[in-house]
Amino acid sequence: MKSIGVLGVGDLTEKVLRGLRRGGFSAPIYLSPRNALKAEALAKEFQCEVLDSNQAVADAADILFLGVRPESLESLARSVNIRPEHQLVSFIAGASHQEIRRLFGTANTTRSMLSYAVETNHGTVVLNPPNSDIESLLSPLGIVVPLQREEQFELATVAACVNGWFYFLLHDLHAWITEKGIDSDQSRQLILGSLGDCVAYSRLHHDKTFSELGNSISTPGTYTAQGLEVLGHHQANAAWKAACEVVLEALSAQSSEGAKK
Ligand SMILES: NC(=O)c1ccc[n+]([C@@H]2O[C@H](COP(=O)([O-])OP(=O)(O)OC[C@H]3O[C@@H](n4cnc5c(N)ncnc54)[C@H](OP(=O)(O)O)[C@@H]3O)[C@@H](O)[C@H]2O)c1
Repeated sequence: MKSIGVLGVGDLTEKVLRGLRRGGFSAPIYLSPRNALKAEALAKEFQCEVLDSNQAVADAADILFLGVRPESLESLARSVNIRPEHQLVSFIAGASHQEIRRLFGTANTTRSMLSYAVETNHGTVVLNPPNSDIESLLSPLGIVVPLQREEQFELATVAACVNGWFYFLLHDLHAWITEKGIDSDQSRQLILGSLGDCVAYSRLHHDKTFSELGNSISTPGTYTAQGLEVLGHHQANAAWKAACEVVLEALSAQSSEGAKK
């Protein structure tokens, strides 16, 4: 098993490491020293080692996870010299292969997009390009979706943002049910159940489109159909599409700007 070095210990890489250790990854994990409190806590809980510098992490590890925010990428790259055999896995939204390759001086780059749910080992892990080593490394985190083209990866990043937006939809629906008279825990079960049932049923009937499944439930005269008409009237889904377009545009702009520098 190859060792991992984390350059940029933060909220996202914390969830990745939790998922990996829980999923049985037993090789050494080395952490960069910045964000010392989080790094020390992770080191204790998940048998990782905090090293003195980013370079020490690069020297010790086979695979390097890049977990900084986009604005810190350049300074991170300046702080390490990597070996030709290093594999870089970047979780940084909007940082293109071209930019990472230029900054770190290697062609061994994989981009990955995932959500906090990888901590549960039932998340979705997007990879670009497909890479069997990285796929088997990250597969304990959940379902791996390898994408051939980088433009597809930017779209997958939008899908990852949708995951974040769902929480706010859940919040509003939960608040409505609670206000109407069901206690908070039970409202939460109802709303999560509603979403979970949709996911479970869609996975079972993977041969049917989402609209076929929805139409099979929302038949004329049903209360589901009545509510759907109101959502259509308010163009509720159009708002989600508009948000997707804005994020895709911003990601594509950031990605091509970084590649040009
Ligand atoms: N959070 C998400 O849901 C999510 C989902 C998908 C992808 N991502 C991507 O994951 C990346 C990290 O996001 P995050 O939310 O985990 O951010 P975060 O919590 O701020 O973590 C980034 C960490 O990197 C550290 N850092 C900055 N410069 C460094 C350097 N030169 N050397 C070593 N460490 C350095 C930061 O330390 P300081 O705080 O001291 O600067 C911070 O601890 C982002 O690029 C984002 O696009 C995040």
